[in-house]
Amino acid sequence: MSSRITKAVIPAAGLGTRFLPATKAIPKEMLPVVDRPAIQYVVEEAVEAGLSDVLMITGRNKTTLENHFDRVAEIEALLEARGETEKLDRVRAATNLADVHYLRQGDPLGLGHAVLRAHQHVGDEAFAVLLGDDIMAGGGSLLSRMIEVHEATGASVVALQEVDPAMISSYGVAAYDASSSVEDGVPGAGPDTIQITGLVEKPALEDAPSNYAVIGRYLLRPEVFGVLEQTKPGAGGEIQLTDALQVLAANREELGGVVGVVYRERRFDTGNKLDYIKAIVELAVDDPKLGPALGPWLKQFAASIAE
Ligand code: UTP
Repeated sequence: MSSRITKAVIPAAGLGTRFLPATKAIPKEMLPVVDRPAIQYVVEEAVEAGLSDVLMITGRNKTTLENHFDRVAEIEALLEARGETEKLDRVRAATNLADVHYLRQGDPLGLGHAVLRAHQHVGDEAFAVLLGDDIMAGGGSLLSRMIEVHEATGASVVALQEVDPAMISSYGVAAYDASSSVEDGVPGAGPDTIQITGLVEKPALEDAPSNYAVIGRYLLRPEVFGVLEQTKPGAGGEIQLTDALQVLAANREELGGVVGVVYRERRFDTGNKLDYIKAIVELAVDDPKLGPALGPWLKQFAASIAE
C-alpha cells in the first residue's frame, strides 16, 4: 500500500515579503541562523531522515541557493593552505550533504503550485515536502516518525502542532474525527496521530475546526499531483497545498486519506521576524561553543529589561 520514500522537495520560491528589504536580493531561506542559512538545517533534517535526493523549487534569486550547496574552490584552497581544517570541514559539509537538484517555479503562484512543479522529478512515488523556512529543533525525528506512519497506514501524512488560538488564523488547520483522540492514535499508527477529516486554510478563529495547525512537513502520495492540477487559486489568490490536502482527506477510499502526526518539540518559522530572532537566540544557547558565553549575558540582559 505504501511506497518507500526517497525524495524530498523543498519549496523556496516565495517572495519573502515579510523580510523586505533583507530579501530583495536573497531568498529568505538563505538568511543565516547562527552559522548556517536556514535552508541548510532543512536539508540536514531531510538527510537525517534518510532522504538525500533533494529537489529545491527556486524563485528569482536562485543563484545564492545553488552557490551555497556547490563547491567554492578558492575558499577551500585558502582554508587548506592556512590549515584551518575545522572551517574547511564546515564549508564542505554544505556541499557534500545531499544530491541537490533545482527547478524554477516560474511565477510564485502559491505553495501548491510549487509542489506541482516537482511532479516530473518525483514521478509516481510518495515524497516528502519540507518548507525551507521552517526549522525543527528535533532534527530528523519528526520526518522519520512521519515516514513510519505513512508506511503503517499508506496515507498522506502532515505534521501538526497545537497553537495558541490567537495565532490559528495564520495556519492551515485540521478537522479530525472527534470520537478519536491523539492519545489513542490512528489504528496501526500509534499515539501522537489523528485521522484528519478536513483542512481549512487560515480560518477566522470562530471557524477554526481545532487548534491543530499544519506545520511545514508533509509526506504526500503521488495522487496529490492530479488533485493539484485541478486546484483553483484559494486564500490570497494562491494555489494552496491545504486545498489539495482537503481533497485527499475527504477521499479516504480512493486517495488514501490524511493522517496528522502531532509534533511537540520546538519549531521555528524563520519566515517570520520574531520567530527568526528566537531561533537564533535559542539555537545559539544550545551551541556548545556559543552557549556558555551567551547564556549568562542573556540572563543579565533579560534582568536589565525586566520591569
Ligand atoms: P510563505 O507564505 O511563508 O512564503 O510560504 P512567502 O510568500 O515567501 O512569505 P511572505 O508572506 O511574502 O513573507 C511558505 C513556503 O512556501 C514557499 C516559500 O518559499 C516558503 O518556504 N513558496 C510559497 C513557494 O515556494 N512558492 C510560492 O509561490 C509560495
